[in-house]
Amino acid sequence: MKFEKIHWFESLESTNRHLAVMLEEKSSLKSGTVIAARQQTKGLGRDNRHWISTSNKDLAFSFFLNLAIPEQALLSLPLVTGLAVSQVLDSINIKNHLKWPNDVLVNGAKICGILSHQVQSHHDELVAAIVGIGLNVNMNQDQADQIDQLATSVFIESGQEHEVDLLLDAIIHQLEIVIPIWQLSGFRQFRASWLERFSQLGKLVTIRNQRGLFEGVAKDIGENGELILQDSQGNLQSIWAGDLLVQ
Ligand code: BTN
Repeated sequence: MKFEKIHWFESLESTNRHLAVMLEEKSSLKSGTVIAARQQTKGLGRDNRHWISTSNKDLAFSFFLNLAIPEQALLSLPLVTGLAVSQVLDSINIKNHLKWPNDVLVNGAKICGILSHQVQSHHDELVAAIVGIGLNVNMNQDQADQIDQLATSVFIESGQEHEVDLLLDAIIHQLEIVIPIWQLSGFRQFRASWLERFSQLGKLVTIRNQRGLFEGVAKDIGENGELILQDSQGNLQSIWAGDLLVQ
């Protein structure tokens, strides 16, 4: 699988939203289309939160995929995307962890967030998704301190400014390696690597999702990327979506 040439924009409200509009306007939008923005004025986070990134300093991009896979397989797309980002951070010596389902953390502080949603495919036999990635690249400590959750950046962790475009190329390259394997064999191929990086494995966590709050020990990640929690009675429960709150 190859991504298309990256379309760069100086400023967009949100790369995810813009890509959704492009798809509405052009039913032939190619799978593998990538758009990136130097600045986002209304960056979207999960659960309608804002995503704050610094203009010309941080990375904000989204890609579109239209694939012949079962709909349920899309659940693990953000997990493999997070893994690809994590692997790129490893390659520049930034030790990081994954937080289910798709945050990349350094010592508990968020360095990358991923927002993925299924969209209507223009082909009946295919399923489509838009995936957005926000990576804090050159954000400084003062800027990170203004975010309402613990945040960090490549600059803060390495003490060096990094080129946003080069990091984007590296992430795209890594996605071009992992996505075809995921497409063919599913999340199970990545489960072991994911678990190695999973910061809450074995810990007591609370999950908040549309059905309420679930508390338990994070025991495992299933073959489709679901979180397996063990409650205080020892019962195992699979959680397919939600936010993980650390205790
Ligand atoms: C999260 O809440 O952790 C997800 C954050 C995702 C942010 C990225 S930045 C690029 C893309 N465009 C958006 O509006 N959001 C995603």
